[in-house]
Amino acid sequence: MTITFVGHGYVGLVTATVFADFGNKVYVIGHTKEKIDNLNRGIIPIYEPGLSELVKKNVDAKRLIFTLDYNPSISESDVVFIAVGTPTTKTGDADLSIVLGVAEKIGQNLKGYTVVATKSTVPAGTNKKVQRILDESKPQGTEVDYASIPEFLREGSAISDTTNPDRIVIGIDCKRAQDLLIKLHEPIKAPLVLTNFETAELIKYASNAFLALKISYANAIAKLSESLGADALKVLEGVGADKRIGNKFLSPGPGYGGSCFPKDVRALISIAKDNDYPFSLLEEVENINHQSRRDIVRKARKTLGDLRNKKIGILGLAFKANTDDMRDAPAIDIINLLQNDGAKISAFDPKSMDTAAAVLKGVDYKKDAYEAVRDADLVIVLTEWNEFRELDFSKIKGLMKSTNIIDGRNLYDPEQMKANGFNYMGIGR
Ligand code: UGA
Repeated sequence: MTITFVGHGYVGLVTATVFADFGNKVYVIGHTKEKIDNLNRGIIPIYEPGLSELVKKNVDAKRLIFTLDYNPSISESDVVFIAVGTPTTKTGDADLSIVLGVAEKIGQNLKGYTVVATKSTVPAGTNKKVQRILDESKPQGTEVDYASIPEFLREGSAISDTTNPDRIVIGIDCKRAQDLLIKLHEPIKAPLVLTNFETAELIKYASNAFLALKISYANAIAKLSESLGADALKVLEGVGADKRIGNKFLSPGPGYGGSCFPKDVRALISIAKDNDYPFSLLEEVENINHQSRRDIVRKARKTLGDLRNKKIGILGLAFKANTDDMRDAPAIDIINLLQNDGAKISAFDPKSMDTAAAVLKGVDYKKDAYEAVRDADLVIVLTEWNEFRELDFSKIKGLMKSTNIIDGRNLYDPEQMKANGFNYMGIGR
């Protein structure tokens, strides 16, 4: 098939590349010439394991074409995916202006029969707005059907999440479009959830909010474990062993971040409010998340007292491992709070130093973990990079001024760290 993706963020770029790799001809529309030129040379704007090679392979095979133009990409396509951003407005809603603007341009360039599917995370009811715009803008004699196909890939494991998802959700109301979309997704072996538009749209928010809820629950249990002298990791292992609960997304830490959970939890609270349902459960999920970030700072204050001129080494800045993404990373709030208290921050992250430097000022960025901890009064681990699991702690002990460590991701064994002479503080143990 010939397909087009409008948008080359995580979702657009990864899904487009995977569909090209399945043998389809795939256009990807962007709006910045420099980015499009780079993409056509196989240079991608994000760090995602394996993606650069896969993009290059499919660009070289001429199956993956990046373009600024809606023509001939849209007119040639059997299926067009809208995969642009839905940032948060000041009131917490999802900003749909980009989605709706793109829908109009797609509509104007349609030819023959096309299925247009939204992959962007959009509130229930958006389908009606997109459908109306497509119908109003399409040239006479063209036919368009609409579908809602939310995306569930994670950064850091985006390719395998796309080729091997837990489910494919398709919101659709027409057999012809349904058959075409099922055919397009045939190489992906996953249970198919066929449903109406509103349900598909809500499945996405309800899934992300539930995962965020699990994380806040784990963080609340961690907090309680610290007061009770329990080991939160064991508690949560015991809880997660119950198949009805499951052991995934129960790792306590500095709180969830990234471009999805914070935005989507906020949007679902706002959607609920608009529908006269105060979703106070999710408000508490947010509160606990903010508290989890502040708790790391509270531990630093408790350990060092006055933070003025204390040197704190930060290991890990990205919102999670295997990405260079700093969007809503806990490190931003935590470092800002520490700096407000007068602490001097040095930091190292294997991939996100450039993205971090754009949002975090006054930080002394170092070339490796050992440089970041040199002369530190305290070290705080904020991202669970594998290379931090294998650090040489006898070397670190020699480099630090005082051997205080807050392990924000529970990477290390508390007993061993204490035996090595560290004042070790984990999350929930
Ligand atoms: C999330 C969802 O997992 C994807 O299914 C979804 O497609 C995506 O949002 C989206 O809506 O586009 P992502 O934001 O890439 O994916 O990252 P996650 O792996 O879900 O992690 C989110 C945050 O939760 C990170 O800050 C991570 O450190 C934190 N987390 C995760 C925890 O603190 N504890 C856990 O046990 C798991």
